[in-house]
Amino acid sequence: MSKETFDATRFNQSKNKPFEEVLEANLSRRSIIKGGVGISAMTAFGAFGLAGCNSSSSGNSVKAASGAASAVLNFESIPGSLTDAVAIPPGYTAQVLVPWGTPLNAQGNDWKDDGSNTGTDQLNALGMHHDGMHFFPLNDSSTDGLLCINHEYIDLSALHPNGPTVENGVRTIVDEVRKEINAHGVSVVRIQLSDNQWQLVDNDPLNRRYTGATVMDLSGPIAHTSLAVTRFSPDGSQARGTLNNCGNGYTPWGTYLTCEENWPGYFVNAGVRTQEQDRIGVDDENTRYLWETLAGDAEERLDEFARFNVKPTGSSAMDDYRNEANGHGYIVEIDPYTQNSRAKKRTALGRFRHEGCTFGKLEAGKPVVFYSGHDSRFEYLYKFESAVVWDPADANPSNRLAIGDKYMDDGILYVARFNEDSSGTWLPLTLDSTTVSGGTLADSFSSLADIILNTAGAADLVGATPMDRPEWCTVDPYTGSVYLTLTNNTRRTDETNPANPRLNNKFGHVIRWDEGEMATEFTWDIFVFGSPANGDSDTNRSSLTELNQFASPDGLAFDPRGILWIQTDNGADEVEEYTNDQMLAVVPSKLTDENGNQATIGADNQAELKRFFVGPNGCEVTGFTISPDYKSLFVNIQHPGNWPYSHNAAEATPAGMTVRPRAATVVIRREDGGEIGV
Ligand code: FEO
Ligand code: CA
Ligand code: CA
Repeated sequence: MSKETFDATRFNQSKNKPFEEVLEANLSRRSIIKGGVGISAMTAFGAFGLAGCNSSSSGNSVKAASGAASAVLNFESIPGSLTDAVAIPPGYTAQVLVPWGTPLNAQGNDWKDDGSNTGTDQLNALGMHHDGMHFFPLNDSSTDGLLCINHEYIDLSALHPNGPTVENGVRTIVDEVRKEINAHGVSVVRIQLSDNQWQLVDNDPLNRRYTGATVMDLSGPIAHTSLAVTRFSPDGSQARGTLNNCGNGYTPWGTYLTCEENWPGYFVNAGVRTQEQDRIGVDDENTRYLWETLAGDAEERLDEFARFNVKPTGSSAMDDYRNEANGHGYIVEIDPYTQNSRAKKRTALGRFRHEGCTFGKLEAGKPVVFYSGHDSRFEYLYKFESAVVWDPADANPSNRLAIGDKYMDDGILYVARFNEDSSGTWLPLTLDSTTVSGGTLADSFSSLADIILNTAGAADLVGATPMDRPEWCTVDPYTGSVYLTLTNNTRRTDETNPANPRLNNKFGHVIRWDEGEMATEFTWDIFVFGSPANGDSDTNRSSLTELNQFASPDGLAFDPRGILWIQTDNGADEVEEYTNDQMLAVVPSKLTDENGNQATIGADNQAELKRFFVGPNGCEVTGFTISPDYKSLFVNIQHPGNWPYSHNAAEATPAGMTVRPRAATVVIRREDGGEIGV
């Protein structure tokens, strides 16, 4: 997301035990485990095979890796890089695909490098600041498919010829703001491989944009309630636009999930903020891009700008936009395969700053589970469990969004509490849930919709564990363990512990857990700690070297071969001066300790964590997907400084030359046409 848009305010003012205290306790526990006390060998299980097997494991960390992947990383870790080019291992190529502004259709709206494209051009072109993405094959092909790409936010200086026009704190040019709104959201583009080059299929009927203004359906507890009523949607059934789409997910039934992250910054309430607006961080003075200041302009259509000001002005919610922000903060489901299909906001999965959304290990006859983290300091990790159980016949439906209705609109939302003994508890967020003060959520909320609207506020009351900025999560296809990036938290200042320099968690870490037999149980440990290679032993707990030092893990994805890809969005100088943001790879299920249990990264095995890719200067590396044949790997470069120079992503912008920076997808392939990474 970059430092530019991250709001460092601590919105969570609850007194829940901070994660670092639990972490401290867990590290003590780990040293006991490492000393040979505690863990018993677990039963074997294969890829997506058997149920979680840690039910007898009071105090255990994650389970045995008997179902290990066979993948062997067959490349040398590459050194850091500080250039206006991507860096890849020898024998690989990197192609720039669908950069910001690439037109979806032949309408004469070619991207212009002076920033002069119009708002309508932008509506028919790739948005800005690519982030999460997923490749959906057509006819099971690895050379023809649909790429769904999130566009997280915008760079105003690159978007316009001379930056935004603002006079006395007010936006004055309607098309400029429309262009900004249209540069947000999601792109769906058909892409094909020919002659070793991927290309967008111009004018394909499935090419389309979902923007910050596209009409979407609300679904789940918030839909059709008074909380969702606006002047635009008097029956509370719809919301306009998806904003700040960061991480992503996808479903077992072939749809794309886009996650609304730092959406509160797009709304303002200059009046009296509600408790919920205060908790989530809707500001009382400004929005990020001042779109609301064009309200009342003669060219304004359907309150397209007025809606960003959520101060009540009319006599009821039907007369104003007091509830406009209530239509944001969700996981949004898109059916990429169906032309003109409307996106659905799945409100049952909670309303917060969703970073990503990942489904858990699938088993017939068991509920479908989704995980999603709230990326802000001291915020929480959530799990949604469907009310109905998984029917494998739903994997290939004729109506995908109807299957989404089945599994994503009705269920239980939980929030995580990490206990000191490596166990964890999923705390339900329902009216009858017990609060830490001994009451129930019904004392503070009147309905499930009410809880969903202020998900983080409800989580405060039940005693969830405040985390160091939960980002992406992903599931190991061999073990079922779930991994989550905790990117950093430098505001951990009130817990000074001289023996533990990670109280100021500058470099972040990756945590993982296994579900227990009960829906409310899990066990967890820390897989790897970010650190500079020269960090002292308390900082560099995973014994990283120059060849794998990293900070601020963010994007995170397992591919089906069991390779875990870790991407960074780093702001820590200690690593930044050695390398730009990067992507590392490791096969966790192959790492075992002396007891045969899944190992964490440490001195004995740190070389298994390898740097595969480095982005150009100024960028963040984010978004991951891979073709079914594993021969094309897609990553996104967001907010590069002075790149791309050519179609070859590894060709550096010549010294002294300045290009208009464009976020883009980079496709990595092997010169010999083989599988990536192995
Ligand atoms: Fe958009 Fe949390 O990164
Ligand atoms: Ca980040
Ligand atoms: Ca991110």
